[in-house]
Amino acid sequence: MTVTLITGANKGIGFETARQLLAQGHTVYIGARDPERGAKAAAELGGFFVQLDVTDDASVAAALETIGRAEGALDVLVNNAGVMANGTVDGPTALWSFDTNAVGIVRVTEAALPWLQRSSQPVVVNVTSSMGSFWAVTTPERPESGLTTAPLYAASKAAANMLTLQYAKAHPDIRFNAVEPGFTATDMTAEMDGGRPVEVSAGTIVRLATQGAAGTAGTFSDEGGPLPW
Ligand SMILES: NC(=O)c1ccc[n+]([C@@H]2O[C@H](COP(=O)([O-])OP(=O)(O)OC[C@H]3O[C@@H](n4cnc5c(N)ncnc54)[C@H](OP(=O)(O)O)[C@@H]3O)[C@@H](O)[C@H]2O)c1
Repeated sequence: MTVTLITGANKGIGFETARQLLAQGHTVYIGARDPERGAKAAAELGGFFVQLDVTDDASVAAALETIGRAEGALDVLVNNAGVMANGTVDGPTALWSFDTNAVGIVRVTEAALPWLQRSSQPVVVNVTSSMGSFWAVTTPERPESGLTTAPLYAASKAAANMLTLQYAKAHPDIRFNAVEPGFTATDMTAEMDGGRPVEVSAGTIVRLATQGAAGTAGTFSDEGGPLPW
């Protein structure tokens, strides 16, 4: 059984990932920036709440210190927290998008590394997006090729994909992988039609989070397996 931290786990795909890992018997820390929403989710799920805003260095450092001191190691980090700016393209919105979706991964991963290195089979799953895949957006048959309403989201997720690869190369002892969860009905996509239930999408994250020592690293996957970058 593992000790797992999930960022942005108070709702959506992160919440469902926590639910599935807890059902398997893992210890799960529900990272959330809002104490009320986070504590409520943790109480509902039966996990531990830890306050964590991925855009705030002090809160990230404090969260990892809390987990490390309590558990002695971190086995699995799921960098799930994310935001999508639909339509607006300007400097502040770009900074917000990149700060959350890309720099947030750097903040949390750097703070987690000392504790991941104390684990016997450390894993990091970055929940990115095929919107940030150069392959998907340049393949006419893929729906991402026709989506132009969220360029800052796509660009920040492309940065998140590259961060995954760079971390995987820099830390071969830790299995870093990126996940495309699939178009999912959550608050993030509430203005769009459709989207599948969170259960299927979280399943891909859970599979990579629990793959064990013989698992893959440096991949970008959806529920069908590895995709081109
Ligand atoms: N839904 C899809 O179709 C889809 C497709 C591809 C990829 N993804 C990715 O999947 C991940 C989860 O998205 P979702 O669909 O579950 O969206 P969601 O329901 O909007 O959940 C996003 C989560 O991220 C948290 N968050 C946002 N900014 C944060 C910050 N600065 N610090 C800490 N937490 C923060 C939110 O917390 P608050 O409640 O406090 O706002 C919330 O818990 C995201 O990375 C998203 O880009 C989603």
